[in-house]
Amino acid sequence: MIILASDHAGYELKEGIKKFFNDENIITIDVGTYSKEPVDYPDFAKKGCAKVLEDPRNVGIFICGTGLGMAIAANRNPKIRATLCTDVNIASYARTHNDANVLVLPGRYMKLKKAIKIIKVFLTSEFEGGRHSRRIKKL
Ligand code: RB5
Repeated sequence: MIILASDHAGYELKEGIKKFFNDENIITIDVGTYSKEPVDYPDFAKKGCAKVLEDPRNVGIFICGTGLGMAIAANRNPKIRATLCTDVNIASYARTHNDANVLVLPGRYMKLKKAIKIIKVFLTSEFEGGRHSRRIKKL
């Protein structure tokens, strides 16, 4: 399942991403926020992480203004590997090398079209294991 979370600064991009998935008949779980009313990103990172951790197959897409706050907050969870990805190459490595289970995007600095490209790469790239497993175990 794909779990969406944002603060107010990521709300608009989150809604665009949600519509993209809806149009593709892909079900998402949206843990909020549900408007542009200012909120605190750690609260939504927490809600999003709780959902992601319900099933190892789950993947989160978390968005705040820069992506920084969401990444910092989400990575407080030992089983979360949240990666701020600003292009498709980074998104690919986030999965193949880092086995990321949360993609973080910067809502104020990314258009929907680019976000969709990044999301597609993130969701279709697979963890390579091997030496990367050893490194992940050291986190
Ligand atoms: C909200 O103004 C902004 O600080 C937040 O969305 C995020 O960028 C924090 O890292």
